[in-house]
Amino acid sequence: MPAKKLRSQEWFGGSAYEASVRRAWLRSEGFGAQVFGGKPVVGICNSWSELNNCNAHLRQVAEAVKRGVWAAGGFPLEFPTISLGELFMKPTTMLFRNLMAMDVEEMIRANPIDGVVLLCGCDKTTPAQLMGAASADIPAIMVTGGPMLAGNWKGNVLGSGTDGRRYFQELRAGRITDEQWCEIEGCIARSAGHCTVMGTASTMAALAEALGMTLPGNAAIPAVDSRRYQLAEASGARIVEMIRQDLRPSRILTRAAFENAIKTDMAIGGSTNAVVHLVAIAGRLGIELPLSEFDRISRQTPFLVNVKPSGAYVMEDFFYAGGLPAVLKELAPLLDTTVLTATGRTLEENLRSVERSTNRDVIRPLDQPLAPEGGTAILYGSLAPGGAVIKQTAASPRLLRHRGRAVVFASYDDLRARIDDPALEVDANSILVLQNAGPKGGPGFPEWGHLPIPAKLLKQGVDDMVRISDARMSGTSFGTDVLHVAPESAVGGPLALVRTGDEISLDVEARRLDLCVSQGELNRRRAQWRPPAPHYTRGYGKLFLDHVTQADQGCDFDFLRACG
Ligand code: FES
Repeated sequence: MPAKKLRSQEWFGGSAYEASVRRAWLRSEGFGAQVFGGKPVVGICNSWSELNNCNAHLRQVAEAVKRGVWAAGGFPLEFPTISLGELFMKPTTMLFRNLMAMDVEEMIRANPIDGVVLLCGCDKTTPAQLMGAASADIPAIMVTGGPMLAGNWKGNVLGSGTDGRRYFQELRAGRITDEQWCEIEGCIARSAGHCTVMGTASTMAALAEALGMTLPGNAAIPAVDSRRYQLAEASGARIVEMIRQDLRPSRILTRAAFENAIKTDMAIGGSTNAVVHLVAIAGRLGIELPLSEFDRISRQTPFLVNVKPSGAYVMEDFFYAGGLPAVLKELAPLLDTTVLTATGRTLEENLRSVERSTNRDVIRPLDQPLAPEGGTAILYGSLAPGGAVIKQTAASPRLLRHRGRAVVFASYDDLRARIDDPALEVDANSILVLQNAGPKGGPGFPEWGHLPIPAKLLKQGVDDMVRISDARMSGTSFGTDVLHVAPESAVGGPLALVRTGDEISLDVEARRLDLCVSQGELNRRRAQWRPPAPHYTRGYGKLFLDHVTQADQGCDFDFLRACG
């Protein structure tokens, strides 16, 4: 069978004036004429940015990728896209995930490249690149940046995010000093790379690997470990082969691959944000992933990975214990191992040489799990007809079935203004409710769902409460937080009708979240409800508000989902 004509030849091949000019313009960068002799052109899609510390080392990673591409007979060309630094961007990076996905998709489609290596790391950069690459559908492989080195304070290992929040709570409760907090600030983030626990970045790196979009072992190699650069080099070589094999995302990202990813998410105690991102990535390929599917799989998949915030260890320990290949080896009886991966082989073939974990406290055997069910549960009920999520493995067991009186905050500003007010009528059994923090209401679906515990309760020793919102929360957070309530309050979901003093019932085992208020009273409140004014009337913000879908639909723009 004749080799498929390279896409890049439409730009550089032949004797037409336009092709000659394009060659001349690239030669201006110092490339010799030989690079146009039919070498596959590999785009290196780099989300490097000094405004995104998690991705700040990706130019070095790109150099390793280039070595691999050249060695395999390809021609690498690195290009930038926007980058989303989780801690810096206001109001939230999630407002811009779809913008980055559009940037990635259109840069791939518009440029003379035959395949692409995706370099990402921080939370939204991984799903945005997968969404864009899935829509562009030319051969693609992902290299994530890896987790940073674990923090350490006076001999205590610090997981970024998780332990930062824990110690900040200690500071608010007056149990550590400002000086000690300053020391922690100086040693919790020790290198380039993404957060060191099973937060959203680590989860999405693991799911990219479980989907088959990376080389095996990619997810957990620390950012500064030489093996990350070795894997990047191998990925550069591999994309050249993938181009020759026309191994596109649509051949890898099948329904079976997504089901494998959901099972992996449950086994690793992954971030609740993964639900939104997986639904969005699948939507780019015309694959529907209803929330009920996540819950069905959660009920059947044991929780195996003992990493914070649901467990005791950090990502470095996870890597030394075997990383994701060891998890997939354990999960293999539950997975569809016939799926094709970026190696060009099936998952079953990839796993043949993988050994079981060397540390069974970090990665548990399938028959001795940390919990019989997966990390994320989906709740339905009168308060969440479209669904809500809870990370049950990071919640307090005593609160998984709870009935309490709502203390309602109408917005994030209202929350900040009143949460530490000594006059706030709240006790340990209350349920904190935050409204107008969803995709349209936030705006942008911010990570406000881990509501702070009122200072006066912290001082009484209260360390967890049921909290309910239409917001997301950081994957590094821990607590009994019910999130992603859909429909959100800004579009008139039942969450908008909750008033302080209402009874709310949470029952995670029964997967229920109910507002215990009569229908007549709710009808009366609905008649009085008015939608909040839109946050934007122009620009990208308006595009977002006009087209973003609800949490259970993945929050992609309606016009970016695949037709059919
Ligand atoms: Fe980038 Fe946590 S802030 S991964």
